[in-house]
Amino acid sequence: MRVVSVMNYKGGVGKTTLTANLGAAAAARGLRVLVIDLDPQTNLTFSFFSVEEWHSQLKDGRTIRQWYQGDMPGRDMGLADLVVTPERVNAVIDAEAGRLDLISSHLGLIDIDLELAALLGGATTLEGSKRRYLDLHGCLRQALADSHFQENYDLVLIDCAPNFGLVTKTAIVASELILVPAKADYLSTLGLDYLVGNCAGLVEEFNDYVNHGTGSTNHATIHPSFLGVVFTMVQIYSQQVTLAQQSYIDEVRDGSRVPVLKSVIRNSPKHFGSAGEDGVPAMLRAARADEVVKEFDQLVNEILGALTEARGAHGG
Ligand SMILES: Nc1ncnc2c1ncn2[C@@H]1O[C@H](COP(=O)(O)OP(=O)(O)OP(=O)(O)O)[C@@H](O)[C@H]1O
Ligand SMILES: [Mg+2]
Repeated sequence: MRVVSVMNYKGGVGKTTLTANLGAAAAARGLRVLVIDLDPQTNLTFSFFSVEEWHSQLKDGRTIRQWYQGDMPGRDMGLADLVVTPERVNAVIDAEAGRLDLISSHLGLIDIDLELAALLGGATTLEGSKRRYLDLHGCLRQALADSHFQENYDLVLIDCAPNFGLVTKTAIVASELILVPAKADYLSTLGLDYLVGNCAGLVEEFNDYVNHGTGSTNHATIHPSFLGVVFTMVQIYSQQVTLAQQSYIDEVRDGSRVPVLKSVIRNSPKHFGSAGEDGVPAMLRAARADEVVKEFDQLVNEILGALTEARGAHGG
């Protein structure tokens, strides 16, 4: 099972659109996929469920908010109890083993970052505070290590909120790989090194606590790496990326510490403008011969290929 976070602190760069379409496309290729919505905006959830369905079936007992709530995430309920199987997308996935499951989000997740931060500060000894740091930051990682997830899924995709709060950090700690959607413009490319630096800082701190910490800890060191930057909403005219955007893409490719994926997602409001209105992401709705679908297929090839390579590198 691979765990990949889709993150960027910049809002509106296409994180959720990528997560929904990649998850659905991977399931259509026969993978058992779990997508986790960690954004209080709940957009990923609404790519697969209608607002009415969410209210009647999920809101009161089956969202990730319930899991993060309480004295320690996951203490009162198992993560596996929150998994739901959206019907409409699964009805169009005709690969034999392929399946897409979801853990839904909730607007109330917005308060959880503060509650977790309060828990983080609650310990009275240095030992205790280190242990609490590891338990809180490592909570999602520990939950996903359970055999239920390991045996039932090939790929877990986590859609992060556009921030670097504690909930997002639990996703980074849980991930083997990080995928960063970005727009090809000045501000977006400027933020990338900052993001890489912050992730590196988190990894260093976590591992430091594991290595010089609390004596008996059940946490191991983490080594997430960047799968790459995916440029999204790219302007393409006569099969070519516009010059201005190409120069931003080249700048990141040559000058930043993150790899840049070859494939891009083009700007196409016709395809991506209405995020899965009918519960089925655009790339499973449109015709196979559609130019944009073919481009997205290339991206899926590239990402799944990189996941296989990473498996080799991580020896798992
Ligand atoms: N390739 C694309 N072409 C055209 N529109 C797109 C494309 N990708 C996403 N969009 C649209 O842009 C908006 C933002 O996309 P999305 O919600 O995926 O971004 P996000 O990074 O998840 O945002 P947030 O940070 O708020 O979670 C949405 O309205 C979506 O439908
Ligand atoms: Mg989003």
